[in-house]
Amino acid sequence: MKLAISGKGGVGKTTLTSLLAYTFVNQNFNVLAIDADPSPCLGDALGFPRELIQGLTPIAEMGDLIAERTGAKPGTFGGIFKMNPRVDDIPDRFSATHRGIRLLELGAVKMGGAGCICAESVLLKQLVTIILLQRNEVVLMDLYAGVEHLGRATSDMVDALLIVAEPTARSLGTAAQIKQLATDIKIPQLYLVGSKIASPADRDFIAENSPGLPVIGFLSADPAVLRADRERAPVYDLSPTLVTETKAIVDALQSDAR
Ligand SMILES: Nc1ncnc2c1ncn2[C@@H]1O[C@H](COP(=O)(O)OP(=O)(O)OP(=O)(O)O)[C@@H](O)[C@H]1O
Ligand SMILES: [Mg+2]
Repeated sequence: MKLAISGKGGVGKTTLTSLLAYTFVNQNFNVLAIDADPSPCLGDALGFPRELIQGLTPIAEMGDLIAERTGAKPGTFGGIFKMNPRVDDIPDRFSATHRGIRLLELGAVKMGGAGCICAESVLLKQLVTIILLQRNEVVLMDLYAGVEHLGRATSDMVDALLIVAEPTARSLGTAAQIKQLATDIKIPQLYLVGSKIASPADRDFIAENSPGLPVIGFLSADPAVLRADRERAPVYDLSPTLVTETKAIVDALQSDAR
C-alpha cells in the first residue's frame, strides 16, 4: 500500500504518519517512510535515535549526488541535464532503518513555480516515481504542504491520499483545497482523517463539514503526544488510544482497497 498524508500545517500529519508506520510494521510489512518536509521531523516522531537522524542528509541537499546523477550543477537553470537520472539505489543507500522502518528524507522539494525543470526537481520526481512503482513495501509519504509537487506522473501510483484536518473551519478549508488539487492530478482515493478530537462535538463538526470526503477515522487529542515529543519516544509506544484508532484506519483502508 502506498499512502500520502497531507493537510494544513500543524494538524497532525507527522503524528499520523508515525502511527501508521508502526501499525504496518506490527502487521509484518516492510515500511518506507518518506519525509518531504523541508525541516524534517518524521525521524523524531518515529523515535529514531539521534545519531541515526544526524547521519541523514535530505536528498534535495545532496548537491554532489544530484550533479553526478543528472550531469547538472544544482540550482542552475537552462543547462543540459539528464531527464531520467539513475535513482534506484538511493532509497537503500541514503536512508536509515530503525525498528523495521526505513526513513528517507527528501528535503525541500523546490519546484520554483509552474514549468520549472531544474536538476533537483527532476531527480526528486524520478525518485518518488521509482519508489511508488518499484518498491515492494508499504510507502508512507508525509507531505508537509500541498500535493502539487507529487505531479501527475506519480499521483496515479499512490493508492490513497489521507487529508488530515482538525475540528476547525480553517483546516477543513485547507482540506477542501487539497481535495481539489488531488482531484486535478487524479489521485484515485481521497479520505479525511479527523485529528485532535476532544469531544463528540468535534467529531460531528468534522463529519458535517467534510468537503465531500469520506471520513476514514478519527484520532483523539491525547496529552501522550506531547509527552512522546519530550521523551523523544514514538507516540505509538505511549498512546494505546491512538494505536487503536490508527489500527481502525488501517483496517478501513485495507477493506476499501480489497
Ligand atoms: N492527537 C493529538 N493529540 C494531541 N496533540 C497532537 C495530536 N496530534 C498532533 N498533536 C500536536 O500538534 C502539533 C503538530 O503535530 P504534527 O507535527 O504531527 O503536525 P504536522 O501536520 O505534521 O505539522 P507540520 O505541518 O508542522 O508538519 C504537535 O505539537 C503535536 O504534539
Ligand atoms: Mg509534519
